[in-house]
Amino acid sequence: MSAAAPRSIWSSRPAFILVTVGSAVGLGNIWRFSYMAGAQGGSAFVLVYLSCVALVGLPLLMAEILIGRRGRGNPISAMLKVAEENGASSWWGLLGWFGAVGALLILSYYSVVAGWIVDYLAQSVSGAAIVTARDAAQGFDALLENPSKLIFWHTVFLALTVGVVARGVISGIERASMLMLPALFGILLFLVLWGAVMGDMRAAWHFMFDFKPQQLTGQVVLSAMGHAFFSLSLGMGAIMTYGSYLNKQSSIAHNSLWIAFADTLVGLLAGLAIFSLTFAHGLEASSGPGLIFQTLPLVFTHMPGGRIIGTLFFLLVLFAAWTSAISLLEPFVAWATERLGMRRALAACGAGFAVWLLGVAVCLSFNVWRDWRIFDLNLFNQLDFLTNRIIMPLSGLAIALFAGFVMARENVRDEIRLPAAQFRLWLWTLRYVTILAIVLVFVYRLMNPES
Ligand code: PFF
Repeated sequence: MSAAAPRSIWSSRPAFILVTVGSAVGLGNIWRFSYMAGAQGGSAFVLVYLSCVALVGLPLLMAEILIGRRGRGNPISAMLKVAEENGASSWWGLLGWFGAVGALLILSYYSVVAGWIVDYLAQSVSGAAIVTARDAAQGFDALLENPSKLIFWHTVFLALTVGVVARGVISGIERASMLMLPALFGILLFLVLWGAVMGDMRAAWHFMFDFKPQQLTGQVVLSAMGHAFFSLSLGMGAIMTYGSYLNKQSSIAHNSLWIAFADTLVGLLAGLAIFSLTFAHGLEASSGPGLIFQTLPLVFTHMPGGRIIGTLFFLLVLFAAWTSAISLLEPFVAWATERLGMRRALAACGAGFAVWLLGVAVCLSFNVWRDWRIFDLNLFNQLDFLTNRIIMPLSGLAIALFAGFVMARENVRDEIRLPAAQFRLWLWTLRYVTILAIVLVFVYRLMNPES
């Protein structure tokens, strides 16, 4: 280990919460959540999602922060250190690798989708009109067919991400989140109000919150649970790394409650804003991944002030994606600076370059290399499958096992510092509910790739 400078510590508790909410709130909340809720019947999905956050997401979020803070290092050294402290095998260090490398894999395709957002933002600013549904669909298809445009926007987005991470934990990551997150919340609230005034909020509300038990299928439960993982950034070392910069006095339980609450709130508010505008124009909410790329641009073109609203919307998604992407790059960069003694800027550029290369291949998988398929999936979907359905749940499971069974109880309690009854409730949920739920989702989703 190099003679490293003292590790950074977030400058305040709100800073930690904002930065971590920044990681959690991302494309998942706006792009994935809205189309999944829309395509899976709305309310049933939303309600199950909320229970999954409480029973699986929250306990695991606390476990990940606790390991990071206890280990005070990047995910790899944190796992090694905490394993050693608890007399466990150094093989647990592999879990840190699993997360840090998995996070880079996610970033490679996340950055491509975020690049689409930057393209749409540029179009909104320039006031490009989308007159018919056919224009909207053709516009999106044309983007996917255009490798140089995809690669260009992917490069722009990744450069933005590398730029922030290279500047450091406090002057880069914390500063960027302190600027972007309040702006994100402000824009979101404005869009919800706009949706209430100009859209069909009542229909959106009923769609999202009416309880329709017939829609509550096993598949909805499982995909909602999978989404809770993705949305809370679990299992990829991102939260662990952020936890490692948290001061010892801050309450992990309270912080986690705030993070889970804010993440869920953003998903729900974004859903209300999106659906109220979509329904007001008599459009369907169930168009799948194209919802925000095809349906919404059409809505924006046809409503008064649509150019400004469209610009604000895509700016909101850009901020959300940017702060999440930062957290996907940070675990590996933290490792390279702490373990290899590399300069942060160099580490960020090096990791960014590897991600960029893979991202270029992802861009090509929509067009030039579209016939290169495994199990009928192109590279984009393969990476999504590998990270989302295999790496994330497996590493989440390992984290839960580690904090729940491997770590000595007094070490866990020393970090979590909850009153006895609440501590027991958390540990019990983590050990028996969270673990069981992850195993169920993992097996089911692996066997039903279309779920
Ligand atoms: N939570 C992010 C989203 O909802 O878009 C995605 C994500 C970020 C997943 C960071 C995993 C991660 F480590």
